[in-house]
Amino acid sequence: MAALDFIHLDHPLYARELDLRFRVLREPLGHTREQVLFPFEAQSLHLIAHDAGEVVGCVLFHPEDAHGGRLFQMAVAPQLQGQGLGAQLVRTLETGLRERGFTHVHLHARAQVVPFYERLGYAVHGEPFIDVGIPHRHMNKTLAP
Ligand SMILES: CC(C)(COP(=O)(O)OP(=O)(O)OC[C@H]1O[C@@H](n2cnc3c(N)ncnc32)[C@H](O)[C@@H]1OP(=O)(O)O)[C@@H](O)C(=O)NCCC(=O)NCCS
Repeated sequence: MAALDFIHLDHPLYARELDLRFRVLREPLGHTREQVLFPFEAQSLHLIAHDAGEVVGCVLFHPEDAHGGRLFQMAVAPQLQGQGLGAQLVRTLETGLRERGFTHVHLHARAQVVPFYERLGYAVHGEPFIDVGIPHRHMNKTLAP
């Protein structure tokens, strides 16, 4: 059973988070390890799922103003996908966002993952677009109090 925690960049498991993000989100696209880093890495909330010193899931949130921001780098280790961990990460992130006073979340969903976010209450808006070389949709959600 994985534990979920918000961490800062000086946390010993941050390197493991980066490794998971690389393996799940970047390596399959042929990207390098350096391409896993975002310019707003330090300004973002990092929620990780960890078990026995291994990071098995993560989701990040970049605050863009006092009310909301972008959910990004949503990843679950391949061997644990489809068992509810991704949904648990999003719900736990949302609880943390409400506690911090945020009301709006937007994200860039890979097209094949849109149903995952729809189950969590996110809605598609705007036109499809290409990001990191693959089709994406804009999605957003207003957090209920
Ligand atoms: C997408 C991802 C984060 C989902 O996490 P997960 O732990 O596998 O998903 P969960 O088991 O929590 O799924 C929750 C629900 O969404 C559904 N779901 C998950 N992925 C789905 C997909 N690709 N297509 C359709 N439905 C999906 C599940 O069936 C489940 O439905 P239920 O509530 O009816 O049981 C994970 O599969 C992953 O890391 N994929 C590779 C990286 C990626 O694409 N990240 C997203 C970038 S935008």
